[in-house]
Amino acid sequence: MTPHIRAGSGDIAETVLLPGDPLRAKWAAETYLDDPVLVNDVRGMLGFTGTWRGNRVTIHGTGMGMPSLSIYANELITSYEAKTLIRIGSCGAMQEDIAIRDVILAMSATSISTPSRGILRDMNFAPCADYGLLSAAHAAAQSKGSRTHVGGIYSSDVFYDERPDLNESMTRHGILAVEMEAAELYILAARHRCRALAVLTVSDHLLTREALPASDRQSSFGDMVEIALEAAFA
Ligand code: HPA
Repeated sequence: MTPHIRAGSGDIAETVLLPGDPLRAKWAAETYLDDPVLVNDVRGMLGFTGTWRGNRVTIHGTGMGMPSLSIYANELITSYEAKTLIRIGSCGAMQEDIAIRDVILAMSATSISTPSRGILRDMNFAPCADYGLLSAAHAAAQSKGSRTHVGGIYSSDVFYDERPDLNESMTRHGILAVEMEAAELYILAARHRCRALAVLTVSDHLLTREALPASDRQSSFGDMVEIALEAAFA
């Protein structure tokens, strides 16, 4: 038990999928895992452990933003010995050749700040994905025929950004998409020698203003869950 997770020791698998939304954790666990068992509901942050093709997996919500993700990832790693952590989430596209529903595999995650900034002090640490997971996820996405992009993303602290020039600068520097969690996940994984990856589905487009209708979200997110599971156990 930790301050934010009531699971007993042994209730959490070594492989953890991390959606931001706790209800998406429930949906993914009920849809993709065999025998999912609720292992956490503290503060309504749902976590389930089950099996996928015989492999134990936990799917646990993180909430939105890096401070919230940091709490759950820290506790999953340091108290429950999670070793492979894959964020599954949505993102806003920042390049014209990316479409709604496309899958983004985040090779690196740029940020202005993360909860780890105080630890890293003046260093511009480069948070990057685990290469083995990244390459396995790419292979899984290719074999599914999902429209997939691999590259850098931007982990922002703000959803309602008052600085459009920053987004424009990210677009000009080839950043594929914006979300709010991956940079801290990658830094924590580096610090604790875990494997991490963010597999994202484009839910909205910052250049075209197009957005995925809420009713389409769940079906579009299925590919991302399967890609994450296949990469974890490749
Ligand atoms: N900004 C930040 N995070 C996001 C977005 C966005 O536009 N879309 C999905 N996650």
